[in-house]
Amino acid sequence: MVERVKTGIEGLDKALNGGIPAKNLVLVSGGAGTGKSTLCMQYLVNGGKIYKERGLYISTEQSEGELKRQAEQYGWNVLELEEKGLLKIIYIDIIKENHFLERTREAIKNFKPKRLVIDSMSTMSDYMAVTDYSKQSWSVTSIQNTVIPQFFSEKLMSKKILSALISELKNFDATALLTTELPEEGKELSADGLSEFICDGVMVLECLGVGASVFRCLRIRKMRYTNHEKASMVYELTDNGIEFKEKEIKI
Ligand SMILES: Nc1ncnc2c1ncn2[C@@H]1O[C@H](COP(=O)(O)OP(=O)(O)OP(=O)(O)O)[C@@H](O)[C@H]1O
Ligand SMILES: [Mg+2]
Repeated sequence: MVERVKTGIEGLDKALNGGIPAKNLVLVSGGAGTGKSTLCMQYLVNGGKIYKERGLYISTEQSEGELKRQAEQYGWNVLELEEKGLLKIIYIDIIKENHFLERTREAIKNFKPKRLVIDSMSTMSDYMAVTDYSKQSWSVTSIQNTVIPQFFSEKLMSKKILSALISELKNFDATALLTTELPEEGKELSADGLSEFICDGVMVLECLGVGASVFRCLRIRKMRYTNHEKASMVYELTDNGIEFKEKEIKI
């Protein structure tokens, strides 16, 4: 039987046939303000509160204070979870920090989380391209005893960086949510057009306008090692975080 990590969000766990298969790396894709960070924090808060599992939130977008302020809005007692050692928030300032991979690796090794969030994965891989990996954008090849430098295309560089990050993350025992920003009208599933192929799962958050109404929808586009709901599911951002409107979801 597949070991699963429950999000603790009613409706979503059902749509996932019981939860995210353990150790999956899942991309959370969506436009601005669709609720990506809320979903991620809720996953960790529920993990600590309900299942007593350690959660690590690595943020490149909002500071620790900002994330706590948003969590308070939803009535989540982040401080209590931190004191119990069930939650840790680390903010990596993209202006000051040059070694994302090192910082992330250290944090995961020290805290040993069961649940991991990287918010945002696209920011992290973009900056790794110009920091941690900038010196590796070329290699040498030898043709008839002549050494020739080979420069990688931007796409290949991105793939190398993402693959390095993902394979690092796979070495740990965590089940991870990794956010990526999408333009409103695009058909892409990630900011880089590659992560969705490398990651084990993809959940897409969308705002759909129907007449004068706007619906927020979550679609599980891909989830390795499990059956799952394929249709879009309507959710709301409420005072308690993300709530799914449809209680009965058929798979
Ligand atoms: N207490 C609340 N009740 C209802 N909705 C709220 C509440 N607090 C925040 N929201 C909604 O949540 C949205 C922000 O959610 P969140 O930060 O999780 O989105 P995001 O996808 O991470 O955004 P970004 O692209 O900026 O990172 C706000 O725009 C607002 O609509
Ligand atoms: Mg966010």
